[in-house]
Amino acid sequence: MPEKRILSKNCGQIDPQNIDTYLAAGGFNAWQKALNEMTPAQVVDEVKVSKLRGRGGAGFPCGLKWELTAKEKADEKFLICNADEGEVGAFKDRYLLQNDPFVLVEGIAIAAHAIGAQKCYIYLRQEYHYLLDCLNNALDQARQRGFLENLQIDVHEGAGAYICGEESALMDSIEGKRGEARYRPPFPPSKGLWGQPTIINNVETLANIPHIILNGSQWYQGLGTAESKGTKLFSVSGDVARPGVYEMVLGSSLEELVVDICGAERIKMVQVGGSTGGVIPGSMISTPLAYETVLGSGAVMVFDESRQVLDFVHRTMVFLADESCGKCTPCREGTEAMLEILGRLAHGDGRQEDMQALDELSETMMLASLCGLGQAAAVPVLDTLKYFRDEYETRIQQSVFLRSMRGRL
Ligand SMILES: Cc1cc2nc3c(=O)[nH]c(=O)nc-3n(C[C@H](O)[C@H](O)[C@H](O)COP(=O)(O)O)c2cc1C
Repeated sequence: MPEKRILSKNCGQIDPQNIDTYLAAGGFNAWQKALNEMTPAQVVDEVKVSKLRGRGGAGFPCGLKWELTAKEKADEKFLICNADEGEVGAFKDRYLLQNDPFVLVEGIAIAAHAIGAQKCYIYLRQEYHYLLDCLNNALDQARQRGFLENLQIDVHEGAGAYICGEESALMDSIEGKRGEARYRPPFPPSKGLWGQPTIINNVETLANIPHIILNGSQWYQGLGTAESKGTKLFSVSGDVARPGVYEMVLGSSLEELVVDICGAERIKMVQVGGSTGGVIPGSMISTPLAYETVLGSGAVMVFDESRQVLDFVHRTMVFLADESCGKCTPCREGTEAMLEILGRLAHGDGRQEDMQALDELSETMMLASLCGLGQAAAVPVLDTLKYFRDEYETRIQQSVFLRSMRGRL
């Protein structure tokens, strides 16, 4: 299946600095419809029926989250757009922010109307500082045209840490604290930013909203699989001839994306969903891209036959151990322990008992970590142990042999 450009239809077609070009392409028609022809409850319902799921990684049903927040009685409610995009290999939100900031502004305005939020934040990845003017310009132009009446939207620059993309750490960061995962419950729809009901949605999730409102939930439901509706942006990198951002209908195969579109050859494995994402071996390249199988944030990294599995998992764990916020023991100590084991395996000093230790550590971290970082840190390890166990065993055998030879010298 080729690309289907719905979310990205304006990218490269409009001037991201000029709202008139967005309006000429039908921009803010969905906002007009939501405000003039629908009640907030109808907007929430339309999103719920569409079955849109969050595009930030966890895939939580968007309409359900909105419904929970809309029901809360509070003097103040907040909407946060998560534009932290700190996931390794992820650059699909940047593509929208850079090429069509207006669709995000329109999505935010509709979402705020639906849940009754008066104040919104766009939490912008620190490394995307160069997009700050572009975003502020889009907000100013929308404000001048009267699309943001009674709604305050501020861009909050991120803290430069992967954990600050995790929704509870992100709220701590906006509140001026060090970004650390919070204990839950309570969840943000009831008690979020400064203890008030809060919606946190990814950039791409919010970019879906104008299309759903304009075309209706039935149209949206016609795209994708039973549990995965709509299209999805994928940022593809690694061993491919044509890296970049591509929009696919959910349920399209990994092969269509990385082979047919991106020109990958001799594929050994593909990591889907960033540093804590699942690893698909080349033999399973026809796997559908969907919540039912493998998805995550949309970062897709391709590794060809020249790559070593242990180098990859070790490198991934270097990142995760470094980015663990350190608040909970299973993640803080677990990522370090895994790093030590993977380091010696990758550097030719592995031991027979290492694989069992990795299994046991993975289980503890998944069950006991406070947030998604620690809970999913072991996914690449477990997947590679499942599909490439022979590479682990060969490395260990080589290490055992080398140690015995050293002993003889
Ligand atoms: C360590 C970690 C980092 C995350 N980084 C991001 C991020 O950069 N952007 C994002 O949208 N979601 C990120 N998430 C997911 C958020 O916690 C949250 O689920 C998401 O922003 C909700 O929006 P959605 O429902 O629209 O996907 C991260 C989660 C974890 C555990």
